Amino acid sequence: LASVDVDISHITEGQAVTVMWRGKPVFVRHRTAKEIEEAKAVNVGELRDPEDDKARVQREPWLIVVGICTHLGCVPLGQKPTDPRGEYGGWFCPCHGSAYDTSGRIRRGPAPTNLAVPEYEFRSDTQIRIG
Ligand code: FES
Repeated sequence: LASVDVDISHITEGQAVTVMWRGKPVFVRHRTAKEIEEAKAVNVGELRDPEDDKARVQREPWLIVVGICTHLGCVPLGQKPTDPRGEYGGWFCPCHGSAYDTSGRIRRGPAPTNLAVPEYEFRSDTQIRIG
């Protein structure tokens, strides 16, 4: 499928879902106020792949990223509340220890770039279309 529609109405704050899009996992995370604040508080100039949080989201609570580590392609952990999320609170890649923050930006470990943000749009307040 070229695009996939996702109903986000049931994803409560702090929760995340994984959807498949063009054979890849896409993470849709409903960020908490604390996670948003952490993402915005980062000094972008210190990042390996400098990107402002607001360039990575369309609506602050919703972070949508391709769930493939930019090092060698493992799927990072952090979607389930019980998963390790690494020291920056986003995702942790168990393959070689890359840690991503609450904007999906690489903060530690071998991955060269941030988790990719796919093309998507809000169809309504409760539905997004990825692709
Ligand atoms: Fe993720 Fe290597 S594949 S750290």
